[in-house]
Amino acid sequence: MARRIITTDETEEDLRLDPKLRPQTLDQYIGQEKAKQSLKIYIEAAKKRGEPLDHVLFYGPPGLGKTTLAGIIANEMGVNLKVTSGPAIEKPGEIAAVLNSLNEGDVLFLDEIHRLNRQVEEVLYPAMEDYAIDIMIGKGAAARSIRLDLPPFTLIGATTRAGLLTAPLRDRFGVIHHLEYYTTQELKTIVERSARVLGVKIDSKGAEAIARRSRGTPRLANRLLKRTRDIAQVMYDGEITEEVAGKALDFLDVDRMGLDTIDRLILTTMMEKFAGGPVGLNNLAAAIGEDAGTLEDVYEPFLIKNGFLMRTPTGRVVTDLAYHHLGIALPSKED
Ligand code: ADE
Repeated sequence: MARRIITTDETEEDLRLDPKLRPQTLDQYIGQEKAKQSLKIYIEAAKKRGEPLDHVLFYGPPGLGKTTLAGIIANEMGVNLKVTSGPAIEKPGEIAAVLNSLNEGDVLFLDEIHRLNRQVEEVLYPAMEDYAIDIMIGKGAAARSIRLDLPPFTLIGATTRAGLLTAPLRDRFGVIHHLEYYTTQELKTIVERSARVLGVKIDSKGAEAIARRSRGTPRLANRLLKRTRDIAQVMYDGEITEEVAGKALDFLDVDRMGLDTIDRLILTTMMEKFAGGPVGLNNLAAAIGEDAGTLEDVYEPFLIKNGFLMRTPTGRVVTDLAYHHLGIALPSKED
């Protein structure tokens, strides 16, 4: 049977952008070795038993391949993938309708699962545990609930922070994986693979230059590759070399450490407006005009991991490395 991918969420950037770049099997997937090895075993076991895979939760910063892995799991299991997200589902009836539309064994990918509201989440509990939904009929004293059976299915939840999930929801996932930032070598291999798929000429140093400046994130590496390709085609002879990549990345305002304009704005704002910190998340978000959640989930993890920023009990603090990197003098320490 031909597999279908049904997208119910307009914001699901990953699936709509360049499906060609997306690996289709675990063997094509580069990086996340731990998750990959475990999934291979669980998928094979589930297939042998003729059962759907247990529910899977992926957590970690955006752009690391949660959606891609959901697509691969559906593909390897030979079932349909249905995609939706926490913010797209507002009412219990909406999630009930999505669940009711699944075929046996299908994978339902629920992105930003931490943003489901409580009533919607409660529909998921029996759905995940017993493949059933309870529907309330009538009101007041006459109200009663009837149980509707669902076909066995796999829920794949994705979130930037597992800590935001309620315990009852988290506990219903049989497989939980934290996705890690990719190494430069892994990203380089991804860039080379994507370049082959896109038919772009790139040499080893060019791929490495893009990889080094991609913040450990394949989504960004692929985006930078495509923009670098544009620049290589218009301003050079089309091939991406180290020099072309360097020029393109400077043009795109991505610096040697992979920091972009917003990263640098965060750090310079902390230095110039808050004397390097400590500063609270909400204050900082207001000062740079960015949403606090985006700041915390998208920008901070990379800045922290690379030693530019620290979280302390009293707030965020920039590090000496950040001053050195941006060429800003360290404040004197005597006061
Ligand atoms: N494209 C995006 N992410 C990828 C990955 N992890 N492996 C291979 N190609 C990719």
